[in-house]
Amino acid sequence: MKIQGFSSPGPGLRLHLNENTSGCSPKVLDAIRALTATDIAAYPDYRSAVLACADYLHVDPEWVLLTNGLDEGLLMLAVGRLGRDKSAGAEAIVPVPAFDPYFAAINAVGATPIQVPPLDGFGFPLRGVLNAVSPQTRLIYLNTPNNPTGQTIDIDALRAVIEAAPQALVLVDEAYVEFAGTSFLDHLPRYTNAIVGRTFSKAYGLAGMRIGCLVAHPDTLEPIRAVTPVLNLNVVAITAMQAALTDREFLPRYAAEVHESKRRLYSACARLGLEYLESSANFVLVRAGARAPGIVNALAARGVHVRDRSRDPITAGCVRITAGVVAHTDAAIAAIEEIFV
Ligand SMILES: Cc1ncc(COP(=O)(O)O)c(C=O)c1O
Repeated sequence: MKIQGFSSPGPGLRLHLNENTSGCSPKVLDAIRALTATDIAAYPDYRSAVLACADYLHVDPEWVLLTNGLDEGLLMLAVGRLGRDKSAGAEAIVPVPAFDPYFAAINAVGATPIQVPPLDGFGFPLRGVLNAVSPQTRLIYLNTPNNPTGQTIDIDALRAVIEAAPQALVLVDEAYVEFAGTSFLDHLPRYTNAIVGRTFSKAYGLAGMRIGCLVAHPDTLEPIRAVTPVLNLNVVAITAMQAALTDREFLPRYAAEVHESKRRLYSACARLGLEYLESSANFVLVRAGARAPGIVNALAARGVHVRDRSRDPITAGCVRITAGVVAHTDAAIAAIEEIFV
């Protein structure tokens, strides 16, 4: 039976969707508990949430469009930019491997996806992307750090793509930027054909709340704002987001756990002779070869859920493992070692 959403993998460690494995800040739970019956009965007032988000990102509030998860932003971007473009044959460039919903959004508006394969070792294919730019290019989806590889795109390469495609809008999807440190936001004011995507699902542990945002020059955002439902977020989500931003210690503490978890995963892979990619995000892509699906199943049987990426030919033989709380990573490593003895 095909029903909506992801099906739960069952009890155990959720290391398959790059979520925050520690849960959200306790300040979020306190703020949600403080909501009253009349707060819930009223349509949400976004103003303070937009101001809080803009303040956090150091941008003007007019540059922010809050979205129901960054997922909604990806779709609205395609609808606003491509759906309203009446020129025939609009193309959208996607370096692969990529986050699947980019393709769902492109297909939803009847545009043509143009895939660009990575360099050896999953490096960003700058030359390939520049060569793919055509007069029909309307959107370019860039993701740094990339899901599923954890590889980053350097600022000069982002700028080169944005400057080479003035007829297109370039999304810089920064869903995992809090683990990497370097954001494109400082450079955004120089470009009216670039847009940054952010989410509170990953580092802030609010995946269940569905809250993200698009950031761009107000004129660039306007066609996307125009197609986005006016009341796209619920009052619990905007309350949670604002509370999360007041907890200044949460992010550095969690980022340190992720860093240590990645270090332990790298050493475990090295011990077991498994190839892995050093990652700037909260997950690690491991090359397990033909055994990948068997390993994913064997781990699931031990209550450790990881993501099988082996069916995608670009990531053949690969498994993606979320790196979060160190104790969870240790449990995952113990299960992996058990399988390999
Ligand atoms: C690269 C990338 N972009 C966007 C998203 C969507 O995030 P959200 O939970 O805010 O919809 C994800 C989620 O996995 C992602 O990996």
